[in-house]
Amino acid sequence: MNAPLDKTPIGKPIVQTYDMLSKGQREAMKRIASHEDAVVPQIEVTRPVSIFLSQERFDAEQENIFKKRAIPLTISALLPEPGMAMGHESTGLPLIVSRDRDGQVHVFLNACQHKGAKLLETCEPVKSGRMTCPYHAWTFGVDGKLIGVARAETFINLDKSKRNLAELPSKEQGGIIWVMLDRHAEPDFSSLVPELGEDLDALELGTAHVYGRKSFDVNANWKLVLEPFLEGYHVQRLHASTVGPLYADVPNVVDKLGPTIRQISGKVNFTPEDLEIPGENIHKTVTTVYNLFPNGVVITSPWYISIMILHPRGPDRTIVDYHNLTRVAPDNPKAENLYKTSYDMVLDVFGNEDFRAAEISHAGLATGALETVVYSGLEASIPAYYGILESYLPK
Ligand SMILES: [Fe+2]
Repeated sequence: MNAPLDKTPIGKPIVQTYDMLSKGQREAMKRIASHEDAVVPQIEVTRPVSIFLSQERFDAEQENIFKKRAIPLTISALLPEPGMAMGHESTGLPLIVSRDRDGQVHVFLNACQHKGAKLLETCEPVKSGRMTCPYHAWTFGVDGKLIGVARAETFINLDKSKRNLAELPSKEQGGIIWVMLDRHAEPDFSSLVPELGEDLDALELGTAHVYGRKSFDVNANWKLVLEPFLEGYHVQRLHASTVGPLYADVPNVVDKLGPTIRQISGKVNFTPEDLEIPGENIHKTVTTVYNLFPNGVVITSPWYISIMILHPRGPDRTIVDYHNLTRVAPDNPKAENLYKTSYDMVLDVFGNEDFRAAEISHAGLATGALETVVYSGLEASIPAYYGILESYLPK
């Protein structure tokens, strides 16, 4: 006799039926062709290998894009309540990310204004409302204001208002905390177009539960780490024994939301009629991927959403901050089991397949065996993305 069916609810999946999505997402999904009608474009595109290897190119990207433009830094869901703060080390620049008592997000350089000591030595979010330097106990509010100086009477003319934390331009949109790493650069968040905010808000990233997060130290150029998330060509090959069979070998519906690229694709079981099924979890049959320009990746899955932020640390090294978001925390063993299984699987696929592919690709390119890399019609979003990236670099 079969075991009785376990009908314990698994909790709400993070998202969501078709009608809960943004107008832009819904319209894009309507454009997914049935698999038999899908036409794969043919393209003739190469890029020089030096874009992945050269220090000069790396420095140009840092100077013109990572330091002078808005980039995704981390996720809102790590700071769900006012008064929270955390250290952030992944960019190589010690930072503090906080949410003040009014709910406003701030990004500061993690340096006490007395002698520069790091105020927060943990990258775990803490809720305390204030931050005290371990060295001489100067205390700052989570809004960056200096509020307490030990033995203040021993300083002559110490103007506390001139010793607030050094703040970087930042903005919270769509559940992502965006920053400009050069605090003297003119604040410019024009790349965060409203359509992108509407899409990310529809995914409810800002209010999601952070089920897990893990940082990966990958020995590859950051663009090689990003490339697998801009193409479906590798999916049925690299992931043949894991998630490959879930996907179809067809092109995605691609749109630009500002400089961010959105790719929407029907899984192997997709038919256009799926969009009309009331109450159906749309992420079971459709996958949506955002390349948050320049260094973020958002990927929908049936039970969770993955957000990765790639932090270039050198031409051949990238720190990847991976976050696994569920709509709510698991509240029963069946949900916990599902989320745990999903989390372990996705870490295995990304860590041992995609990031490993980036590492072996980088190692091979570094041999000098190739002058150029070449892209197929199933990888067309990669050169499209590089076109946007290159438009911000000096000619
Ligand atoms: Fe992949």
